Amino acid sequence: MKEVTVTAPVNIAVIKYWGKRNVKLNLPTNSSLSVTLSQDHMCSKTTVSVDDSYDTDSLFLNDEQNEIGGRLSNVLAAFRSLTEDASLKDAKVKITSTNNFPTAAGLASSASGFAALVFALGKVFVPTYNNSQLSTIARQGSGSACRSLFGGFVAWEKGESEDGTDSSAVEVAPKSHWDDLDALICVVSANKKAVASTAGMQRTVETSPYLMHRAEQVVPQRMADITDAIKNKDFDKFADITMRDSNSFHATCLDTHPPIFYLTDVSRLIIGVVHALNEAAGRAVAAYTFDAGPNAVLYVQRKDKDLVLSIVNDLFGPCEGAQGASHSTLLHEAKIDVDL
Ligand code: DP6
Repeated sequence: MKEVTVTAPVNIAVIKYWGKRNVKLNLPTNSSLSVTLSQDHMCSKTTVSVDDSYDTDSLFLNDEQNEIGGRLSNVLAAFRSLTEDASLKDAKVKITSTNNFPTAAGLASSASGFAALVFALGKVFVPTYNNSQLSTIARQGSGSACRSLFGGFVAWEKGESEDGTDSSAVEVAPKSHWDDLDALICVVSANKKAVASTAGMQRTVETSPYLMHRAEQVVPQRMADITDAIKNKDFDKFADITMRDSNSFHATCLDTHPPIFYLTDVSRLIIGVVHALNEAAGRAVAAYTFDAGPNAVLYVQRKDKDLVLSIVNDLFGPCEGAQGASHSTLLHEAKIDVDL
């Protein structure tokens, strides 16, 4: 028997991935950039085992047996064709995965989930593969997952090739480069999102005239500018681009037909509070960003963390359906507990 257990972190994009140019290979219409969060509060833990006694592949997600869907089958098929260990070509696998945070609530659970899975399968099937090579396989499970194979600040370069070999994740800067940046997770709702990302972005690709303008005219400059902001640890610039890109992504959702609404009134209140706070301070104190759901992630410099946490908790504090904010430090690397 071979068994590997790994944990992988969540990443939250500051330049959003939304739209596929090739659905089968999961190639994006635009590059994206994210920050990997600490695993203290949010991570996926996955165990992969291979044993002669297994007669079928099986998947247990948060203690419930799940069907092995198309993307997971593709990922498994990719590893089986890549492995140089003949005994693994037909071997059946058991996958057990848990998240320590709400699954499918717009909190990037597919990112950490597929990253952990691909990382674990990689250790078993292709132990010589590096994380960038693994990221091209993780991408086929869930696009944003490719970024969770690195810590710190990570770009997913959309790539130009037809086969997707150059559509992979690269580290822009390690976590240690900008160590006093924190992410506050404001859980507005832990419910499952109404429109899943995959279906939502397909509808956007099919119906939104704004999407290609965003992909071609807006995102390339933002990728360059936010990379500069990260390299120079320029929080004002980082915050400005992050908030603009979140709003641009949600604008494409609104431009989709029928429109997709991920933000709620509470999300919009948080946006208003952050702008009021930044204006009052005459500098960026916090930057909000929202994925495919109503929950806010606020990036702050550590010197401002307690102030922002107390404001958010005073205004929106723990009540039914809202868990206030918790803070999460950023993480350099996935924690790996390989047990072969
Ligand atoms: C809004 O990676 O979940 O979080 O590739 O179809 O699995 P699939 O989509 P997914 O989409 C994430 C979208 C986003 C933005 C981002 O993380 O960049």
